Amino acid sequence: MLNIAVLVSGGGTNLQALIDAEKNGILKNGHIKLVISSSVDAYALQRARNNGIDSFVLTKKEYANVDDYSDALVKKLDEYSTDLVILAGFLTIFSKKVTDAYKNKIINIHPALIPSFCGKGYYGLHVHEAVLASGVKVTGATVHFVTEECDGGPIILQKAVNVLDDDTPETLQKRVMHEAEWKLLPEAASLFCQGRLIIDGKKVHIKEEM
Ligand code: GAR
Repeated sequence: MLNIAVLVSGGGTNLQALIDAEKNGILKNGHIKLVISSSVDAYALQRARNNGIDSFVLTKKEYANVDDYSDALVKKLDEYSTDLVILAGFLTIFSKKVTDAYKNKIINIHPALIPSFCGKGYYGLHVHEAVLASGVKVTGATVHFVTEECDGGPIILQKAVNVLDDDTPETLQKRVMHEAEWKLLPEAASLFCQGRLIIDGKKVHIKEEM
């Protein structure tokens, strides 16, 4: 059984999807042991408490710089013998120290079809605002490995979601979460925990179930 740490900053609906997936057996061979929030008020912390998961707040302002913040993050992840780090709406930047310490062991959910609408400044509702402004008819969600390059790591899973004529950023965000994110993230976590993800350069191959 692999130890999972989930990093959050907000409402934590993706964390909830992971907790539910562990309970109902969709998330195989993984156990959520730790939640770290970069914000004191994140409702995700309440979700962790409701489910008896240890949780900690690590805010950037407590540290002099990104490297010190990253050291603290790695220390906490190490303390819990973390095998997989899941960024589930984690909006705080960390440095190479984290991606080096947990190389090929960090995955992120992004609310668009990478390589579109991603990179610096594309997070949360801003992504959906940009999608609507562009006039595209299809968006979606992506789960990818985290490397030093923002939203640039190997893609694990993607799912498309239609954009509707009368969508607002809020309605689109909800539909992307409901139709894509909450399914995709537990599925990717499960594949990782079963050892079924093989990274081959920019590509990720998924091994058949044994
Ligand atoms: C999710 O839509 C997630 O994809 C997004 O933040 C939201 C968090 O919601 N992440 C990013 O934009 C990262 N670039 P949640 O706290 O309810 O899971």
